Amino acid sequence: MGKPYIFITRKIPNHLVEKLRDQYEVEMWDSEETVVPRELLLEKSRHAYGLLTMLTDSIDQELFQQAPNLKVVANLAVGYDNIDLDAAQKHNVVVTNTPDVLTDTTADLTFALLLATARRIPEAVDYVKADQWTSWAPYMLAGSDVHHKTIGIVGMGSIGEAIAKRATGFEMEILYHNRSRKEKAERELGAKYVSFNELLSQSDFIVCMTPLTPETKDMFNKEAFKNMKDGAIFINSSRGGVVNEQDLYEALKDGDIKAAGLDVFKNEPIRNDHPLLSLDQVVALPHIGSASLETRTEMIKLATENIIRVLNGETALTPVYG
Ligand code: DGY
Repeated sequence: MGKPYIFITRKIPNHLVEKLRDQYEVEMWDSEETVVPRELLLEKSRHAYGLLTMLTDSIDQELFQQAPNLKVVANLAVGYDNIDLDAAQKHNVVVTNTPDVLTDTTADLTFALLLATARRIPEAVDYVKADQWTSWAPYMLAGSDVHHKTIGIVGMGSIGEAIAKRATGFEMEILYHNRSRKEKAERELGAKYVSFNELLSQSDFIVCMTPLTPETKDMFNKEAFKNMKDGAIFINSSRGGVVNEQDLYEALKDGDIKAAGLDVFKNEPIRNDHPLLSLDQVVALPHIGSASLETRTEMIKLATENIIRVLNGETALTPVYG
């Protein structure tokens, strides 16, 4: 019998899959940039024992049904809303993600996005490059202060806590809302637990870090934006689906909130005719929360290790359930 087959849905550096190749027949989708076509993904899954997937792949009931040998899906992300967990469980497939290794990197990016949005950094860069800087003026590109303001973090998982830790350096007041209380963050970072509506009405910066679930879908809607205080800045680096983008667009256009920094969108990649991108007060990034060379390498190593462990009958390092 040949080696069990593993399919990787994006081109990743060969040296990071050598360990997998020692034991398995490994094939990769031959592109770094484009998503593997659905039909090809289904075809490869039909004889795969393991899949290393991206957040752009829909790993659903249809796929599980056609993959009788599949034992493990290792998703290269901490989020796993692209995977139907019920279907995975029904078909006895272990699903893993890549938490922890990306916590600080994602918190860094989120804080960078907050600073860039508050201090209008992308606008300022464009201003200089477009040769518009002809003199100095007292209110030229004046933004909002970050230090000593109130940050409200919705979704206080490990990335939320890492953002709160950064906020202490800016001497910010820290509010959070989460399904459960985080006593360590309260004790060590001075974070204060509040209801969702209190957080919206008291925060200068609302940072969304909550995963996308049926409960959180569209939770940032017209009503939520109306509840935010004047001049509030909204930051999202979790999943686009938690935001009603039309409502966000209207809130920004009507001046209900001041600005938004967005690393994620409902449909990615966002196209440049999207209404949100017509607004100067929107800073948009292409979902790069965990995109540092070091962290992406650690994520790949963790995902491959999870596959090896599950196929060797061991417990995965980071299973999303079980
Ligand atoms: C994740 O890991 O879920 C991030 O969104 C990827 O950058």
